[in-house]
Amino acid sequence: MILKLKNLAFVLLFIAAATACSTSPNLQLSSPNGNLKITLTNDQGTLYYAVSKKNEIILQPSPLGFVLGDNDNFFSHFSIVETTTDSSNSTWEQPWGESRLVVDHHNQLVVKLQETEGKKRQLHVIFRLFNDGFGFRYAFPQQDSLKNFVIMEEKTAFNFPTDFKAWWIPAYDEVFYESHARFTPLSQMDTVTTPLTIEAENGYYYAIHEANLTDYAKMNLYPKDKTTLSCDLSPWSNGVKVYGTTPLVTPWRTMIVAENLHQLVTSNIMLNLNEPSKIDDLSWIKPGKYIGIWWEIHLGKYTWSSGKKHGATTENTKKYIDFAAANGFSGVLVEGWNVGWDGDWTKNGLTLDFTKAYPDFDIQAVTDYARLKNVELIGHHETAGMATHYEKQLDSAFKFYHDLGVHVVKTGYVNPLLDDKELHDGQFAVRHYRTVVETAARYQIMIDNHEPVMPTGLQRTWPNFMTHEAVRGQEYDAWSPDGGNPPHHTTIIPFLRGLAGPMDFTQGTFNFDNPVHPGTRVQTTLAKQLALYVVIYSPLAMASDGPENYTAVKAFDFIKSVPTSWEKTIIPQAKIGEYAVFVRQQREGNDWYLGAITNENERSLSVELSFLDADASYLARIYSDAADADWKTNPTAYEYTEQVVDASQTMQITMAKGGGCAIEFVKKE
Ligand code: NOJ
Repeated sequence: MILKLKNLAFVLLFIAAATACSTSPNLQLSSPNGNLKITLTNDQGTLYYAVSKKNEIILQPSPLGFVLGDNDNFFSHFSIVETTTDSSNSTWEQPWGESRLVVDHHNQLVVKLQETEGKKRQLHVIFRLFNDGFGFRYAFPQQDSLKNFVIMEEKTAFNFPTDFKAWWIPAYDEVFYESHARFTPLSQMDTVTTPLTIEAENGYYYAIHEANLTDYAKMNLYPKDKTTLSCDLSPWSNGVKVYGTTPLVTPWRTMIVAENLHQLVTSNIMLNLNEPSKIDDLSWIKPGKYIGIWWEIHLGKYTWSSGKKHGATTENTKKYIDFAAANGFSGVLVEGWNVGWDGDWTKNGLTLDFTKAYPDFDIQAVTDYARLKNVELIGHHETAGMATHYEKQLDSAFKFYHDLGVHVVKTGYVNPLLDDKELHDGQFAVRHYRTVVETAARYQIMIDNHEPVMPTGLQRTWPNFMTHEAVRGQEYDAWSPDGGNPPHHTTIIPFLRGLAGPMDFTQGTFNFDNPVHPGTRVQTTLAKQLALYVVIYSPLAMASDGPENYTAVKAFDFIKSVPTSWEKTIIPQAKIGEYAVFVRQQREGNDWYLGAITNENERSLSVELSFLDADASYLARIYSDAADADWKTNPTAYEYTEQVVDASQTMQITMAKGGGCAIEFVKKE
């Protein structure tokens, strides 16, 4: 059902007349339920916005504007010349995702600014208020006095009333956003990337991020003073932040204002601030689960390069295809099939050939075999960060895969700088990744983007943009010198990086031995590995362990049945860094899935089953840590039990240190 109500009565209040500069003409806009308010002030020619919720201050007056090239002040000579408002309430459906239906209910205010002196250039600011947060973006309208320009600084700031504590990862010092999260007062942060998640003292959670990052630079934040975070755009190598031509709109700056972690995770502000799908025929876009010639390369059993241990051979790949077909997996990822991996491949970007296979990999035979078995190969384009070299081959590379019946490609950019020069989230990179996903769409190919720019909800517009890395994924548990991801890592990322969209985390370990790096390993129990399929969302979910480790293990049934697209998602209980319980209802079905995880501490939680349909009973298939399970000493000990339950009951979930619990609730007829 789509409801579109335009021009509803919106709440816009002129506190004083909206005229020029140094007076203080305040404008106010409220969210549809009236709880959230933005107040705008023009103070000495600079536009400030402030935000409150139920009369509690969320943000104190915070400045807006730009510094353009040649130190051109484009922030402090403005008057408000016009304001317009709008209101909208609609519901749209996602082709895949954490919830099928998305409600977009907002009030909008457009503020048109004009310089009071000089060239009288114009700048617009568009605010949208939702019940659970807000977004705003700038528009540089077409105008004779501003055509081609550069942005050297975006003055956007977020001025909090208190030095709250926040979860963050650093922006520049650690690559690809593959960092451990830190938790410090705002004032003690480095320059951080977004999403940034703040724990306010009133129990609220705020998350700052952006939506629809298009032909612009990624926004980072740094503490300008104790309570003010200022915008820091990822620069080009020459220091310019953004090259622009009017008309230009910036990405939306977003902030979720949530009363609890359920609201934080299920907020759809980012998706609502992206444009509807540009792909009409969505029939080829399908979420799914995959296995791959991958983890065993990271563990040293196979190599990407040719030679005795080459993983991507015709024969080996056929074995993976057989396993995928027998167990209901839609895809088999094959890395290291194309020439260019010999020697130090991270430096070989310019010799990687995306259409030429190693002699021991007959890609035609492999894809023919996969087709017979109703499985698809998942292609791989590791570029070693040589973006321009890759762009030159893009069409032929995607056509090659398309003609072989491949519909998913994992891309990779292992190089701290693209083309050895540009940041992964500057304007150059943003343009590159967009070119890739748009070209892929023309060849009906879905993208799993590793070493990407942080996602900003573009899957709404390009639903073939399935999943991304941008996280310290499970591969660190194969080789990281620090021993791997500590147990608490996965109790943080759903509430931080996860707010930016799907994560290709690649869980699925059943064999915890690490023959090559014995000091490094997956730091969870086996039951927690299962639970991660519910807690961490990806429409393409990997069962990363080698097939032989799944054979004849009952727990594998959970991985086989867990969906990768959901009707709805609920987070009944969580504490960032300590534990999380996620429940999700399958799409086109009646079953529910629960994933509960804990950090280094063992834990027992009572979970009400009130999310289940009333008047129905369910068979609960429960995979829990055995009494003697422990991530360090006994990770594989789990128990499988069954129980008939209904919505009136409460379940006691007990988790070992580093443990978890996964439950499938099958509705009984
Ligand atoms: C890093 C990616 O995250 C990983 O999944 C991949 O196997 C390697 N690069 C090689 O492309």
